[in-house]
Amino acid sequence: MRAWCVVVPRERGEEIRRRLVGLGVLHKHLRIVREGDRLFIPTTARVDLDFPTEQREFGEGFVAIRSYKDVVDVPESLRRSLPSSFDVIGDIAVLKIPSEMQRYRGEIGRAILRWNPTLQVVVEDRGVKGERRVRSIDVIAGERRTTTVHTEHGLRYAVDLAQAYFSPRLASERQRIANQVLAGEIVADPFAGVGPYAILIAKRRRPKIVHASDVNPAAVALLRANVGANRIDRVATYEGDARQILEQIRPVDRVILDLPHTAFDHLGHSFAALGARGVVHVYRILERADERAAADRIRAIVAQAGLEVTDLRLHTVRAYSPTQQHVAFDVTVVRGSRRAGLGTSPSVSHRSRMKSTPTTGRRSGRTVRQSAPRGPRKRRSTRRR
Ligand SMILES: C[S@@+](CC[C@H](N)C(=O)[O-])C[C@H]1O[C@@H](n2cnc3c(N)ncnc32)[C@H](O)[C@@H]1O
Repeated sequence: MRAWCVVVPRERGEEIRRRLVGLGVLHKHLRIVREGDRLFIPTTARVDLDFPTEQREFGEGFVAIRSYKDVVDVPESLRRSLPSSFDVIGDIAVLKIPSEMQRYRGEIGRAILRWNPTLQVVVEDRGVKGERRVRSIDVIAGERRTTTVHTEHGLRYAVDLAQAYFSPRLASERQRIANQVLAGEIVADPFAGVGPYAILIAKRRRPKIVHASDVNPAAVALLRANVGANRIDRVATYEGDARQILEQIRPVDRVILDLPHTAFDHLGHSFAALGARGVVHVYRILERADERAAADRIRAIVAQAGLEVTDLRLHTVRAYSPTQQHVAFDVTVVRGSRRAGLGTSPSVSHRSRMKSTPTTGRRSGRTVRQSAPRGPRKRRSTRRR
């Protein structure tokens, strides 16, 4: 194809190519020609950069694109502010856009769609808000929709990013919890969202039942659709406040308390919902310095509920901010008078086994004794407290 080009010394090729991208005049689908020490960089129009220009033939062809940044047209001075990562949920790219890039968000969205043709929608994530943790979403490129189907651990989830919470970043954490569930357990997932914990546990383990509920009617509608779509028959679904649902379904063996910002408000009800013994997985967003205080608070709530902690592990799920971590406390408890009976029933022996032999095969816990001064950490991911 015949096109205008700028003729530049080879050593300045990358610098000029970027300038042309910034000006929005690089002809991206034509191959740059090299002759000796000169590069002929194709442009969509004649461009005066104090380099010779001419018209010539260029080959069309596949251009290797490593990142959407290779095809986005934004001023050179702003390239450093381009988002360097984003989530992919089904066929939707979800990204945060810094304020200085707001006027280029359409261009960024279109570049992502050009870069990855399997994506159909790009949305700007303006943050998760309120008790229902629903994202404030703006479609910035592609089809005007916020619904998609996301596959995780081989299971399919209908999601609506504007109606109910879902994050693909917790996939490994969901697997970690599912790996701990033994056959015959009664599991409560009272903050179930669209069902990724409940459905994974029901499908891959053999619980007696998983009680999955949420206060958000839109989340419950998707949860029910997902239970049906994945042909699950061990999940009972409810709509309502966690406290009431836990009261209704008790006793249970395990509670997944996945509401990191206010989880401790629900801890008392979660422990009260356990039978003679059980496990609560409670999530928090914490500064490292606050971990010990959080563990102490859990112990106090357990004691108030008339239970005793037999094992308390802290697992780091992911970094949440430069100073904060998203963490899980896995709290195994027993009613005070039952402690002496550890190991006398199948479910008790499961609890005591879990203490030293995690079902993942790898040790997933780390201990810091409550009364001992904190020593150097050997392992980062999981600690017992
Ligand atoms: C962080 S999301 C977790 C969703 C789900 N566990 C997941 O992994 O996708 C928390 C969920 O708890 C629900 N929620 C918040 N407060 C609640 C309450 N008091 N009772 C029941 N559900 C509640 C929200 O609607 C939201 O779907």
